[in-house]
Amino acid sequence: MKTLVVKYLPTGSTSNTKKLLDVFLEENKSQNIETLDLLKDSMPIFDEASIQAYYKRNYGGQKLDAVEAKTLEKNDQLIAQIKSADVVVLAYPMHNFGIPAAVKAYLDAVIFKGETFDYGVKSMAGKKVLTLFTSGGIYSEETFNFDYPNWNTIALQSKAMYGFMGFDDIETIGTSLRDEATASEKLAEVRSKVKTIIAKWYK
Ligand SMILES: Cc1cc2nc3c(=O)[nH]c(=O)nc-3n(C[C@H](O)[C@H](O)[C@H](O)COP(=O)(O)O)c2cc1C
Repeated sequence: MKTLVVKYLPTGSTSNTKKLLDVFLEENKSQNIETLDLLKDSMPIFDEASIQAYYKRNYGGQKLDAVEAKTLEKNDQLIAQIKSADVVVLAYPMHNFGIPAAVKAYLDAVIFKGETFDYGVKSMAGKKVLTLFTSGGIYSEETFNFDYPNWNTIALQSKAMYGFMGFDDIETIGTSLRDEATASEKLAEVRSKVKTIIAKWYK
C-alpha cells in the first residue's frame, strides 16, 4: 500500500497545515510513503508546444517525435508517480478561498486524458485521496454557495476533480487553527477524523 504525500507548506516549520499533516503521519503506521514537496519541485505549466503535444498524443492517439515528447516529460514522470500510489494525501493552506496556485499547477500537470481520467472510465479506481488544509476563516467542509462566508471552494473542487478522475474515496479535512484558545480542540477533531479514515483505508 503506497502513499503519495503532496505538500505545499510555504510557511515551513510554523505552518498550521503542517500540524494536520503531522497528525496524519503520526497516525499512519505505513512505511511506504513518498513525498512530493511543491516548494522544491517546480511544476510544468502548459505552453504552446506542450499543449499541442498533449492534444496530439492524448486526444489524437498520434505518436510524438522526441522534441514533442520532451515537452511532456515532467508531466509523464508526475503521472507515473501518482498512478503508482494507492493513497494520495495533499496538504496545503487555503489561499483566496481555494487551492493555491502551486497545487493547482500540480493537479493540472497530472490530470491527463487517457492516463488519470477518461470519459466513462474510472481511471483512478481503487485509489483514495485525502486533502488536508487550514484556513483563517471557518468554513463548512461540504457546502459552497455564493453567500459569504460559504466560499470554501476546496472541498467542491476536490470532489469535482478527483471524482472525474475516478478515485474510489475522496475525503477533505479542513480547519482553522487561528484562534489559539480552540486550536488544540480543533486539532483533536482532525486527529479523530484522520484515525477513522486510516482505519478504513489501511487494512
Ligand atoms: C496569500 C494568502 C491567502 C489567504 N487566503 C485566505 C482565504 O481566502 N480565506 C481564509 O480563510 N484564509 C486565507 N488565508 C489564511 C490561511 O489560509 C491560514 O492562515 C492558514 O492556516 C495558513 O496555513 P499555513 O500556516 O500552513 O501557511 C490566506 C493566507 C495567505 C498567506
